[in-house]
Amino acid sequence: MAAIIDGKKISQEIKEELKEKVSLLKAQGKTGALAVIQVGADPASSVYVRNKKNACAFIGIESLAYELPEETSEEELLRLIEDLNQDGQVKGILVQLPLPAHICEDNVIKAIRPDKDVDGFHPQSVGALVIGQKGFVSCTPAGIIQLLKRSQIEIAGKRCVVIGRSNIVGKPMSLLMLREHATVTIAHSKTKDLPGLCRSADILIVAIGKPRFIGAEYVKEGAVVIDVGIHRDADNKLCGDVKFEEVEPIASAITPVPGGVGPMTIAMLMNNCVQSIEEG
Ligand code: GUN
Repeated sequence: MAAIIDGKKISQEIKEELKEKVSLLKAQGKTGALAVIQVGADPASSVYVRNKKNACAFIGIESLAYELPEETSEEELLRLIEDLNQDGQVKGILVQLPLPAHICEDNVIKAIRPDKDVDGFHPQSVGALVIGQKGFVSCTPAGIIQLLKRSQIEIAGKRCVVIGRSNIVGKPMSLLMLREHATVTIAHSKTKDLPGLCRSADILIVAIGKPRFIGAEYVKEGAVVIDVGIHRDADNKLCGDVKFEEVEPIASAITPVPGGVGPMTIAMLMNNCVQSIEEG
């Protein structure tokens, strides 16, 4: 029987801590807003954006919502970002992804000032992570580190396999685990004998993007399993990349879906915003 890592509870604790910090910063005259930009009306993006605004309200920071029509041009979006870059009260800028196909995501990410890049997606933020310098870290991987630490799971010296090599999760996740002194392997669609490799992991982090892909044959007895996936199954129920009921009896600790990694992303976004306000 595995311990269930309660991301809902841990994310709430973090948001409570941040709320206190925000009120202390306010007393020192330090305030700031998060600008959230959404282009188009993708329903999943609308849910994420609403959750981000609610989290800002909870911890006591202002959020500025920019809901732009689908046909917004790249130039118009870049102009808005430049205005927000120049606005002293705006301490964080977030452009919800994905963007419509006619807008180049790389150009947009690059346009955000790195000291307001609370998503941690700017090449300078990513580069800083690679060489161990200060910068904003991508929120989902940062949240997973918090889940492990706040569950008293030791990382140093452990064998960690990360499945997935995306810029938002897999790559920064691997770098963060390395920074915490794990021995890290990144697996992906071309990896040979994925089950065998995964069975070498003390900590298995799954960001494969395929519903219920990882079963018992991928998991070593006593491993810690972190499931980054979120999907709807045939019955419209939320599920992860891991077959929870099959893996849970083997693992020593596991994140559920929903209520595991998901809530941590927004908590860490709030953490990045508070850090940005603090640094001024
Ligand atoms: N789309 C899916 N996840 C994210 C995220 O963490 N940040 C942004 N900006 N867009 C996303």
